Amino acid sequence: MTQSTGLFITFEGGEGVGKSTQIHRLADVLRRRGHDVLVTREPGGSLGAEAVRHVLLSGAAEEFGVRMEAMLFAAARSDHIEQVIRPAVAEGTIVLCDRFMDSSRVYQGITGNLEPQFIQNLERIAVNGMIPDLTLVLDLPASVGLGRAKAREGKDAAPDRFEKEEVSTHEKRREAFLDLTRTEPERCKLIDATQAEDLVALAILAEVDSLLHEGTTDEPAKGQKA
Ligand code: TYD
Repeated sequence: MTQSTGLFITFEGGEGVGKSTQIHRLADVLRRRGHDVLVTREPGGSLGAEAVRHVLLSGAAEEFGVRMEAMLFAAARSDHIEQVIRPAVAEGTIVLCDRFMDSSRVYQGITGNLEPQFIQNLERIAVNGMIPDLTLVLDLPASVGLGRAKAREGKDAAPDRFEKEEVSTHEKRREAFLDLTRTEPERCKLIDATQAEDLVALAILAEVDSLLHEGTTDEPAKGQKA
């Protein structure tokens, strides 16, 4: 029995699609099977990136423009990768990350109207080769997702920097995430998040299982039963 290989799996989608619920469900299943699992999120996930998170989500950076925000997301991402994600995957951990580079492509690139070349250059520098093995794109109509996000946060809570934008902007993001599943079908898998929570969890597990069983990755990990 050789040591199992680490994996890097990201979850993407609009507001309120249920990423964090599903990440924790998947983490539980994988841990029960004996895998080492790390759950993390962006912006944040490392000391340096958490310091930048507040600046971005409070809207403090908004007045300085989308380029500035995109560079801050990239700086946070770089710290998160080098301090947390890359070392964990190298040690054999399955890293589950709530949002990653595709959120920058969609939020800053598509709905922020930044030039594709600028976003690509930032991504290349920040990601530094740490491309996810699998990206699960949870899809839901924007209005449904925004309603869920609002219910989760409490109806009187102020929406954050990105939630507060128009429904049409959120719909554009939904389309951009869907496009990713068409342009990068090997990495980006579409998950219908309108289904019941249990069915969404099963669909996600099916994608993760097909990744775990392909190639040279050894399953079950650490000699335990799957
Ligand atoms: P967060 O409160 O973590 O929530 P959620 O992922 O549940 O929506 O908010 C993160 C926000 O930051 C979200 O509105 C998407 C946005 N974002 C970007 O605009 N670009 C990025 O690269 C990332 C990682 C997030």
